[in-house]
Amino acid sequence: MALRKYVVGNWKMNGLSSDLAEIQAIADGAKPYPTVDVALCLPAILIDRAARMVTGIPIGAQDVHFADNGAHTGCTSASMLRDAGASLTIVGHSERRDGQHESDDEVRQKAESALAAGLKVILCVGESLEIREAGNAIETVQAQLDASTPRVEDASSLAIAYEPIWAIGTGKVASPSDIGEMHSALRERLVAAYGEAGNGVRILYGGSVNAGNAAEILAVADVDGALVGGASLTAEKFVPIVAAAASS
Ligand code: PGA
Repeated sequence: MALRKYVVGNWKMNGLSSDLAEIQAIADGAKPYPTVDVALCLPAILIDRAARMVTGIPIGAQDVHFADNGAHTGCTSASMLRDAGASLTIVGHSERRDGQHESDDEVRQKAESALAAGLKVILCVGESLEIREAGNAIETVQAQLDASTPRVEDASSLAIAYEPIWAIGTGKVASPSDIGEMHSALRERLVAAYGEAGNGVRILYGGSVNAGNAAEILAVADVDGALVGGASLTAEKFVPIVAAAASS
């Protein structure tokens, strides 16, 4: 089943108020490609201003706490993100799983809390180089997905991002056949979790996606979009990826 392509920028810890014009330039650049869903996940502190000032593109967060409020210093809840104008959030990015020691169970709770608050969710999974070289990538990432998949009735606001850790920010990209193999393995697990609706959950690829490799990656079966880090920071680099999604 061909799903609408979804191209999401992850700005990570980049972006000041002086970048709002660039965010608007990205939104303007994406406008001629209405068949593609485009969104930008910004640093939490920029969300409110971007949601107020930028038109034409949904603004998202990069993480969310699973609790709705309380004694969690430095954290942001799903209702706070909604209140600031976010309509989606990433959860379980490997930079948080590693850097902040987030477990699959915590990622699952984050996804459930975000969905309950009405945010769309992009849930990230992916293997380390060590695991890939040991030949255990598929089982490891399937198990990661099984354990972090939100236990919800309605999966229509969920997307998955397969991001091999060794491909993030390195310029190395998984081969189309490895990407295809992983995405179909993940599709299997989504159908096991959600039944027929699992076929409607978009699976994005992430890891060094850029204007030069996007068309090839997006042509792979079961690749329903891209989660883009470095190449999402400017319209010049990001819009060609949206264009590639539109013609894939
Ligand atoms: P990259 O990051 O495109 O810079 O590799 C992707 C991501 O981490 O989401």
